[in-house]
Amino acid sequence: MKEINRIGVFTSGGDAPGMNAAIRAVVRASLFHKLEVVGIYRGYAGMIEGSFIKMNSHSVSNIIQRGGTILKTARSDEFRTREGRKKAYENLVENNIDALVAIGGDGTFSGAHVFYQEYGMPVIGIPGTIDNDLYGTDFTIGFDTAINTAIDAIDKIRDTADSHDRLFFVEVMGRDAGMIAIRSGIAGGAEAILVPEWKTDIDQLISILQRGWQKHKSSSIVVIAEGDQSGGAFKVAEKVKARFNHYDTRVSILGHIQRGGNPSCNDRVMASRLGVAAVEALTRGRSDEMVGIIHNEIKFTPLEKAIKYHQGINKDYMQMIEILAGY
Ligand code: F6P
Repeated sequence: MKEINRIGVFTSGGDAPGMNAAIRAVVRASLFHKLEVVGIYRGYAGMIEGSFIKMNSHSVSNIIQRGGTILKTARSDEFRTREGRKKAYENLVENNIDALVAIGGDGTFSGAHVFYQEYGMPVIGIPGTIDNDLYGTDFTIGFDTAINTAIDAIDKIRDTADSHDRLFFVEVMGRDAGMIAIRSGIAGGAEAILVPEWKTDIDQLISILQRGWQKHKSSSIVVIAEGDQSGGAFKVAEKVKARFNHYDTRVSILGHIQRGGNPSCNDRVMASRLGVAAVEALTRGRSDEMVGIIHNEIKFTPLEKAIKYHQGINKDYMQMIEILAGY
């Protein structure tokens, strides 16, 4: 087993509320285990540029409650190339970094896995993405905060939808994953929810709205994940309006507000647990794995598997949403 003295920690891909709590936990756990810890700015981009900062306990004071990431984040095209990864490795060696904690989503873990295969750099991934689409953990850091932001917005939209008797199409984040749409849609009382994982059936959507109209429903909300197969909220609204125009219709795109804000209690606690577990895993010689929480227990999943398989969406939700819509 390779001896580890100095850990590098970074955040990569889309930011997520709770990433700071994870960084804090990684730094404090490293220091507890008498390891040095270095922050790498802007993920793989900073690794290639050599943008490092030595961290101490004070470096992570007063950040547990802050959204975003103090280490900044980026999506690096250069790291996808062999030359980019070589530069990154050379910089890590030059700075005596002998293990990594990567906080991010599937793109981050794909990079970490390839890097491990090429250079044998020990790495543990911490799932940080609002999308909650990783296999090997019940929840990812940031998801809880994001869905609460989304339902707060949907509640507000419901007020104005109701006052004006309008039909609203609300688009939430999720390029490839519908978890945010499902949770926020159910909790926000949506009439229908459209997600990338299920084929969108406009006829069925119109028939649901029609039934609501016939039952004198004065306003309706449809929640749509941005990656929905029919092209997002504006396109769906257009298609529906062309054939069903009983309601005055509006579209609202919630966008990046879902990525910001103070992390929820759940996200902070989960990030803290995962950060401590990631460092302990490295000290025990684990590598090329993601640390997650399944049924409230720390579990490790090979990075390759965490990326390859996605958390599916239970089809039962579909029927439940129709039942709850009340027609
Ligand atoms: O992966 C997280 C995520 O927020 C997705 O839900 C969304 O599609 C994407 O990032 C947006 O990325 P960007 O901030 O680069 O536009």
